[in-house]
Amino acid sequence: MSNSIGEKFQITTFGSSHGKAVGAIVDGCPANLELSIEDIQKELDKRKPGTSSVTTPRKEDDEVQILSGIFEGKTDGTPITGVVFNKNQKSKDYSMFKNTPRPSHGDYGWMMKYGNYDYNGGGRGSGRVTIGHVIGGAIAKKLLKTQDIEIISHVTQIGDVKAEPQDFKAIKENIDKNPVRCADLKAAAEMEELILTKKQEGDSVGGIVETIAIGVPEGLGEPVFERLDGDLARILMNIGAVKGVEIGLGFDVVNHTCSEINDAFQIEDDKVITKSNNSGGIIGGMSNGMPIVSRIAVKPTPSISKCQDSVNLERMENEKIEIKGRHDPCICPRVTVVAESSTAIVLADHMIRSGFIHPNNLEKK
Ligand SMILES: Cc1cc2nc3c(=O)[nH]c(=O)nc-3n(C[C@H](O)[C@H](O)[C@H](O)COP(=O)(O)O)c2cc1C
Repeated sequence: MSNSIGEKFQITTFGSSHGKAVGAIVDGCPANLELSIEDIQKELDKRKPGTSSVTTPRKEDDEVQILSGIFEGKTDGTPITGVVFNKNQKSKDYSMFKNTPRPSHGDYGWMMKYGNYDYNGGGRGSGRVTIGHVIGGAIAKKLLKTQDIEIISHVTQIGDVKAEPQDFKAIKENIDKNPVRCADLKAAAEMEELILTKKQEGDSVGGIVETIAIGVPEGLGEPVFERLDGDLARILMNIGAVKGVEIGLGFDVVNHTCSEINDAFQIEDDKVITKSNNSGGIIGGMSNGMPIVSRIAVKPTPSISKCQDSVNLERMENEKIEIKGRHDPCICPRVTVVAESSTAIVLADHMIRSGFIHPNNLEKK
């Protein structure tokens, strides 16, 4: 199994939905970064369920404990371990899946590959493992902030409801004002209505989450096989329920000619910038100083209460399945902070690898 990512700034996640705990070990964060438990908790609070009408009613505190790596309020250069003990787990919700895999969830793959699979809550295939991403991402974000790099993720589409494009400032101001975490407040209201309708129908709905990173210097990324776009796509595609990743214009490039979409250069305030940003801040696999823009396609939550076809693997018979547990009618609002965190982990790693941040001690140049 693969549970670690990153070369210099490396995170390893552990735990499963219905085990004792979930969390992350972050190795390679330089010493002398001011870091408090609140820095991590406030990010986890954006991911935790039970906070609004459009997420699962499962109430989980997701209170983080830090076991190592901080001395006198600052990182000490040793591995930072963050752990969240599981509390609100109802195994009876899942006993019916022991031999009957949920369609389009991870169950079938885990059963076939590993055999001994904790089917309760999807085990390590559960969305709950992204608590580890968020612990790692909170630390990465704090590290990037020392270099004036900021990252934000927001929902741009739910089902067929699309948001109008917004600038970074508006996104920052608006996403906390609605449960969908969409910066276009009119579209957000329509999205909320659509999610609630699908929930009532015992169904679910997917959408698009966009992430923007500003202040990233030129030159992050290592061609040929660790290009910045390649590393970003890899970490984003590794989030459960993500079925597509785009950088910049993404799949829309095919709808344009070169002269329509090439990012022309220009000098502004003695700096080289591009007039447009269709490349999403990455050319030739390296950052070019423009905002880094990615989008992920998030599928509708696979666990729904509507009747679906499955199989009983013990009896080798066809079987109907109705999933009565407490699931998100739409995963997108909770994925925003996971996408933000994943982007931060990759950027923190490349900032250290490219020499912008000293690998051992933040105070050294
Ligand atoms: C933050 C988050 C929350 C999720 N919540 C649920 C959920 O409540 N119910 C569910 O069936 N899937 C949920 N998922 C999706 C599953 O984890 C995912 O679909 C499953 O692991 C199969 O992986 P795949 O969809 O990438 O093939 C969630 C995913 C994330 C990232």
